[in-house]
Amino acid sequence: MAAAGSSKTANLLLCLTMISFVQLAQSSPSGDKGIKGFHGKKLSFTLYQQETINKTSYMVVGGVAGAGVSETTTPFGTVYVFRDDLTVRAERSSRVAGVVEGTSVTTSFDGLRSLSLGKITLDHRGHRGSVSVLGGTHNTRPSDCPVVGGTGDFGYAVGYVRTSPVNLRARGSSVTFKVEFHLYWPPYAHYAPTSKH
Ligand SMILES: *[C@@H]1O[C@H](CO)[C@@H](O)[C@H](O)[C@H]1NC(C)=O
Repeated sequence: MAAAGSSKTANLLLCLTMISFVQLAQSSPSGDKGIKGFHGKKLSFTLYQQETINKTSYMVVGGVAGAGVSETTTPFGTVYVFRDDLTVRAERSSRVAGVVEGTSVTTSFDGLRSLSLGKITLDHRGHRGSVSVLGGTHNTRPSDCPVVGGTGDFGYAVGYVRTSPVNLRARGSSVTFKVEFHLYWPPYAHYAPTSKH
């Protein structure tokens, strides 16, 4: 009796397991081969942001108070708009894997901190789409910017992007930033509708 009972339970469990597998297979949207296997998981990679003042980044509003313009500070209220390439290595000549389009506004009176927002469009390691970031950045220290969402293969990504200057005292007006992506897809992302990038 007990043996029959446990075998029934085993059968039921097997059946439920199989139903779960079928449901998982059916709910996997077609055309997501590039992202299959990392929903609910993590993805980390590093790229390098190449910025040149008056070429890929422009000051569009002058600041009004606080610190003056120096190598590391800008007056409170200064607004920059940028469109910088993201390369796979620190060298400017290395392969371009994406672009970051964004703006930053100086929000501290010591001229060191800004509110930054950006759309990062990527085509890297078989993943295509964009990641949107919004948060505070520091001119001389590593800054963590929360990822607020994404499109394409990065739809529903969360996590953060850590930006740190590689060569602060660069020759001329060119600066390179190391950009470390730490992305995570919560389990619900698997069931959410997909968007284009
Ligand atoms: C960028 O251009 C502005 C306006 O022409 C100029 O005042 C500034 O010195 C330039 N900055 C650099 C780093 O070349």
